Amino acid sequence: MKEIEVLTKDVQGTVSQAQIDALAAEAKAGFDHVVNGTGAGNDFLGWVRLPGEIKAADLDDINDTAEKLRKNCDVVVAIGIGGSYLGAKAVIEALSNHFDSLRCDKLPKVLFAGQNIGEDYLYELQEYLRDKRFGIIVISKSGTTTEPAIAFRLLREQLEKQVGREAAKDLIVAITDAKRGALRTLADTEGYKTYVIPDNVGGRFSVLTPVGLLPIAVAGFDIKALVAGAADMEAKTLSGESKESLIYAMTRNALYRAGKKTEILVNYNPKLHFFSEWWKQLYGESEGKDQKGIFPASVDNTTDLHSMGQWIQEGERTIFETVISVASTEHELRIPADADNLDGLNYIAGKRVDEVNKMAELGTRIAHVDGGVPNIRIVIPDITANTLGHLIYFFEAACGISGHILGVNPFNQPGVEAYKKNMFALLEKPGYEAETAAIKAKL
Ligand code: PA5
Repeated sequence: MKEIEVLTKDVQGTVSQAQIDALAAEAKAGFDHVVNGTGAGNDFLGWVRLPGEIKAADLDDINDTAEKLRKNCDVVVAIGIGGSYLGAKAVIEALSNHFDSLRCDKLPKVLFAGQNIGEDYLYELQEYLRDKRFGIIVISKSGTTTEPAIAFRLLREQLEKQVGREAAKDLIVAITDAKRGALRTLADTEGYKTYVIPDNVGGRFSVLTPVGLLPIAVAGFDIKALVAGAADMEAKTLSGESKESLIYAMTRNALYRAGKKTEILVNYNPKLHFFSEWWKQLYGESEGKDQKGIFPASVDNTTDLHSMGQWIQEGERTIFETVISVASTEHELRIPADADNLDGLNYIAGKRVDEVNKMAELGTRIAHVDGGVPNIRIVIPDITANTLGHLIYFFEAACGISGHILGVNPFNQPGVEAYKKNMFALLEKPGYEAETAAIKAKL
């Protein structure tokens, strides 16, 4: 089977194939903007040819650093937020064993911090790290983001207390801009090992840079297979052999123009929960601007069929679903027969659990389509590093094209500054005196 297949038959009650095809010229223009750098945001297109250009020596270097951290640490904390967090979290969660994911006996746990300012979260993390051999990967492209800066200040102080300032330097890796930002200054002053986030790769497109690759490698996963999958999808997308990103971008925009304002990304495999979180950031930050954009939401089924299922089946008809359908599970498990059959389940005895899951998926699709919820299916063969690489590149390419069809600059995020300005004013950050006075007048 193809690595990724986009199936759109079940949108046709809402939009016709002709309505989707009518977007072909806009999609082609969006594709050209992405590939040739002729559109808005063209200084942030470094991700387009990134997978194919990554050198084996760069991946070896990342693997070497990961190996060193693994050898010297029981726990590695990856500090970052948004694009400096979600890609690594998504891939690690997707590839991990649910119950042995932290593999305490063999590899260090990869934990995350700096993705919130929860005092209890940070307190409990510090308690957990007390007396453990831990290391830090601190990730911030701007090098000035408040959430990771707070977490790093706390954990760096703790690490230096636990092992001494000199030894701590060998246990800290910084991933940031080549020249700018407070983190770059600090890393250079302290002499930390650093990796650079290329200027032309935005945070939410940075999972295949050291931002994502180093934590994923520390967690013990095959970054070469991940990048190879993405490079394969890059080659197929750019050559036109794969039209899947175009099909997805056109279909979701046709649905949007037909009044479907919310897209729910659906999975039937709990390993994909954080992949949806990554996707939400990618599409939310790329498209939600100029008072436009599909609202990206997600559910984990069948779990959420018992909470959000009612709304999806019968709520306001402004939604569509995009289901990531995984063809094969990693393991096989059959439902046992039971002589007493008190639970009435013998009718499925001998069947694979995945067969039941797939019937739940099919039954739900039919019910939701009948209930007025158009359905896009993205079929992938399995959840492996290689397939995830394909999927990451597919969604990135489709996002760039889709943003151009929508008529926005998919590569900026001016709206994320508004809360920061208010927070700095409320915290009375030097330089924000006028904003402090203005916001206090509103309280
Ligand atoms: O996609 C983006 O650009 C953002 O989500 C950033 O990744 C996020 O705000 C973190 O920024 P930084 O890496 O500069 O700390």
